[in-house]
Amino acid sequence: MSQTALPPGPNGHFVFGNLREFGTDVLGFFTRCAREYGDIVRLRLANRTAYLLNHPDYIEYVLVTNNKNFIKHSFFWRHMRKMFGQGLLTSEGDFWLRQRRLAQPAFHRDRIASYGEVMVAYAERMVDGWGEGEMRNLHEDLLSVTLEIVAKVLFDADVAKDVEAVGQALDAITQESAVRLRRPFYIPDAVPLPSNIRYLRAVRRMDKLVYRIIREHRRADQDAGDLVSMLLESRDEAGRGMSDRQLRDEAITILLAGHETVALALSWTWYLLSQHPTAERQLVDELRRVLGDRLPCVADLPALRYTERVIKEAMRLYPPVYSFGREAIDDCEIGGYAVPAGTTLFMSPWVMHRHPRYFEQPDAFLPERWDGDLVERLPKFAYFPFGGGPRLCIGSRFAMMEAVLLLAAIAQRFHFSLVPERPVTLFPSITLRPKDGVWVRLSER
Ligand code: HEM
Repeated sequence: MSQTALPPGPNGHFVFGNLREFGTDVLGFFTRCAREYGDIVRLRLANRTAYLLNHPDYIEYVLVTNNKNFIKHSFFWRHMRKMFGQGLLTSEGDFWLRQRRLAQPAFHRDRIASYGEVMVAYAERMVDGWGEGEMRNLHEDLLSVTLEIVAKVLFDADVAKDVEAVGQALDAITQESAVRLRRPFYIPDAVPLPSNIRYLRAVRRMDKLVYRIIREHRRADQDAGDLVSMLLESRDEAGRGMSDRQLRDEAITILLAGHETVALALSWTWYLLSQHPTAERQLVDELRRVLGDRLPCVADLPALRYTERVIKEAMRLYPPVYSFGREAIDDCEIGGYAVPAGTTLFMSPWVMHRHPRYFEQPDAFLPERWDGDLVERLPKFAYFPFGGGPRLCIGSRFAMMEAVLLLAAIAQRFHFSLVPERPVTLFPSITLRPKDGVWVRLSER
């Protein structure tokens, strides 16, 4: 094979390439590509070339070894600038590094431990409002509670009264992002399409909330110990603080990145548990053994081993971030194939987490698979729900702690059965959502 050969890949439409399959069934399409073409697959999305990387070494090369040659997927993020601005998720280079260093202390192990109590208290408050036999959209409830938690612990703000409006705004924004992600061309925000109008209205609603939180912090003029206080206090070398706009970008990024993902991890967990009674029994046994009748707390985490494995296994099968991308800055080479500058590189936890080369019975829900030395045996990027390298999810520890505590606190009190008339279907937006939620019938334990 010559050094400059291009990877194999599916033929597509002569104009649109593989855009149709990518747009209508991205999970199935990626899986078929990996099966048919192997570790690196060349795709064409209209006028853009993209490679799908299906080998842990290639993913490591992009995220870690040679990460400086890759930037976040600029084509897509350009579409969402109004929303995310220059927040941690989307910024690059020295600017990103400075912001990451400023935000990092809020996510340190000790700091996070202090958030545990709020997480459990908010979960309790939610569960206290539920009754025997009720039918609920569990995913919607989890979206609300995770939003309240992230707002409380990182911004010291109580958004309970705004939660519905914020939820609707975030929903409108995520829906629009999914459409834009698949659109091969750029439509400026100013074009008065109904979808653009809805999107801009949602952004304005979020702005209103976040600027209010910032104003309240500036007015209070004291360190409330939360993320916004820390960012407000921070100064660069010239002694300058952050502008309201920059604070807003960081706050919105964290609100968005920090709640839906955790809600999804939990929704998919319950979707799986409701179909695997043996696993659920083992979970409840562990909760009874470790907690008895009391609520879980951070000190219980090391003992809640099975509970953690249930979450890990659910995120293997249904990774909330099922795929993400980078763009090559300079020409390079991966697996002996040429990667021209500008190529998009997709890395998909969905594909890798179900890869039969790394996981036995890849499609089976088996929390106990994480018991032995699987973690040591697995290549680093065969399981990577939180990404990796310098851009590893800043909230990964926060997310695992929240997911385990909420699973424990809620499963202690309620059992959920799926409502057969409301089937759960996959909707891969930016995140892997259940299309019409996860409808369950509650029974008290
Ligand atoms: C189960 C829950 C979560 C999952 C699966 C998840 C997944 C991810 C992934 C895959 C990335 C890397 C994306 C890339 O490299 O392009 C990421 C980045 C990020 N996540 Fe999470 N996340 C979760 C929870 C959270 C939470 C709770 C927060 C904050 C409270 C958060 C904040 C962020 C931020 C700010 C980034 C950008 C980091 C940077 O580039 O410096 N995430 N997340």
